[in-house]
Amino acid sequence: MIQTLIQKLRAIKFLLRLITLIILGVASWFVVVSCATLDARQLGAKVPADMVTDYIHRIIKSERIIYGKHVVQRLKDENVVRASEHWQQEKALPLPAQMFRMTSELASENSAFSYGAISDWSLNENNIPNTNFEKKAMREVLDTGLPYKEYQVKDGKKYFSALYPDKAVSAACIDCHNQHPIHKQRYPSKIFKVGDVMGGILINLPVED
Ligand code: HEC
Repeated sequence: MIQTLIQKLRAIKFLLRLITLIILGVASWFVVVSCATLDARQLGAKVPADMVTDYIHRIIKSERIIYGKHVVQRLKDENVVRASEHWQQEKALPLPAQMFRMTSELASENSAFSYGAISDWSLNENNIPNTNFEKKAMREVLDTGLPYKEYQVKDGKKYFSALYPDKAVSAACIDCHNQHPIHKQRYPSKIFKVGDVMGGILINLPVED
């Protein structure tokens, strides 16, 4: 009789210990997870969205300059290989604009984040300003020559979007575009000059409400 009572008491004690352990485990998991989330949020709040797009733009700009100067121009000067729009058929290097588009497509894959180049005088029709933000931002950038940044809602999702002017920094830019058959056909009256804003670099940063 007493034996079974002692056994029952032991079982209850064991059960209580087990429950306490489970509660402790769950509680510490909550503390760790909520602290980690809090940390990430606090960190995010310290970097304003326009600074993030400015940094991304710096990387994009540098990558374009380095590819143009140290790959395309250098290999052309050394008679190794040239760049061509039909690089796959001609065993040539992709043009800087194509390299830029392929990189941006890969970086934007399976993600709400995206970037690319747009212009009112696009050679690639996918690059024509499309959303209300893109149309307005392109007008502002062409008028002022300065970046334009604003929040926009696209397909039900909120973005901080920024458009940075893409200027004709050298004669190569305007020569290729002005003489391109698509440009001549679509925009015969538009003749780019060195220094002109030819389009813009668009960055769409998904943000939480
Ligand atoms: C050898 C020819 C060539 C040169 C040089 C060139 N581009 Fe382009 N550019 C293109 C082609 C082709 C595209 C379309 C690429 C695509 O999306 O497939 C393009 C795309 C663009 C776009 C996006 C809008 C559009 O036309 O589709 C901008 C903006 C642009 N170029 C600006 C520049 C600037 C600025 C320079 C000089 C720093 C430059 N380009 C030099 C051929 C050239």
